[in-house]
This record gives sequence, structure tokens and C-alpha cells, in this order.
Amino acid sequence: MPGNALGIRDYRPRDADSTLALFQRAVREVAARDYTPAQLEAWAGDMDQRVWAHSLERQCTWVAMWGSTLAGFASLNDHGHIDMMFVSPEHQRRGVASTLLMTAEQAVRQRGMNRMTTEASLTALPFFKARGFEVVKAQEIERRGQVLRNFRMQKCLKKIKPVGKRC
Ligand SMILES: CC(C)(COP(=O)(O)OP(=O)(O)OC[C@H]1O[C@@H](n2cnc3c(N)ncnc32)[C@H](O)[C@@H]1OP(=O)(O)O)[C@@H](O)C(=O)NCCC(=O)NCCS
Repeated sequence: MPGNALGIRDYRPRDADSTLALFQRAVREVAARDYTPAQLEAWAGDMDQRVWAHSLERQCTWVAMWGSTLAGFASLNDHGHIDMMFVSPEHQRRGVASTLLMTAEQAVRQRGMNRMTTEASLTALPFFKARGFEVVKAQEIERRGQVLRNFRMQKCLKKIKPVGKRC
């Protein structure tokens, strides 16, 4: 893939370490503008690598490659819920998350579903709003003794006939 081209491909088990590293950097460096250091560590510190790998493998997960560099990744569960959406600090505001979201939306439509949901961080709220999601409710979740504010969001999709493979 050319060095300046964005490509999306399915997640492979060997992507586990690089996606975990990207997740931790995206939280610590990008979400740092919206959460305290203690909240960031509760969110992304001390992750269990096996639990991480299992979680990404059992969902539909895609990685975004900028040339040969991992630029982001996203995962979608069986209920049309975007579980993960993370872009590296170096690739912010270049359309990486938008491209991943389009891929996920296509998979949701192919399943014959007409609604997507997510739980957006304060940092991701403007992104999901810009891509057609609406806030269902603001919530506070407890993680390792810290309370983090996020937003349950949804996007209604026009229904189409299911086609092709699931994801
Ligand atoms: C949220 C996140 C995934 C967005 O990724 P991205 O690749 O930078 O997003 P895109 O470039 O596709 O943005 C598309 C549009 O969303 C909106 N948007 C994205 N980030 C924004 C921001 N920080 N402020 C305002 N609008 C924003 C803009 O309308 C943008 O279009 P534009 O750049 O042409 O103005 C990324 O910032 C990230 O990884 N954040 C830290 C981790 C995190 O909180 N992840 C979500 C967990 S729920």
C-alpha cells in the first residue's frame, strides 16, 4: 500500500499488541484533554493482553493502515454496537475514524439492522455527532475506582436487504 494511502482491512490476531499500544496512546495523549491522569490510567492502564486479544477477536474488528503504519482500529459487536474506535495521535483529523465507521455501518446494514449504538467518550462526542449519532443519555461509569463521564449514543440507519457475508 502506498505510504500516503488509507486502507481498511480485517483485524488479525497478530494485530493484538499494536492495537493495544495504539489504544493506550490514544487515551493518554488524545483523550488527555478531557479526563484527569487518574481517570486515564483507570481507562487504559495495566491492560490484560489476553483479555484484549479475545475481545477484539470475538467482535468484528477492522484496522486502518496509513501505508504500512497502523493509524486506527474499530470494533463492532453482534448488536450493532461500536465498542472501540481509536485513532493514533499522529493520524487525528484525517478521516481515519470516519472511514472505519463507514465500514462498520456497511456491516450493520448487511446484517439487516437499522440502528447503531456506541458509548462515546467526551473526546469522541464531536466525532460521533458529526457522523450522525445523537445522544441518548449522558452517563457516569465507574472504572477501577474512578468515575468517567461518557455518552450513550445512537444512529438510525435506513434499512436495506441483507446481502453478502456478515463482516
Ligand atoms: C474520536 C476519534 C476516534 C476521532 O478520530 P479521527 O480520525 O480524528 O476523526 P475524523 O478525522 O474521521 O473526524 C471526522 C469529523 O468528526 C469531527 N471531529 C473529530 N474530532 C473532532 C474534535 N476533536 N473536535 C471537533 N470535531 C471533531 C469533525 O467534524 C471531523 O471532520 P473535519 O476534520 O473535516 O472537521 C479520535 O479523536 C480518538 O481516537 N480519540 C481518542 C480516543 C477516544 O476517545 N476514542 C473513542 C472512545 S469512545
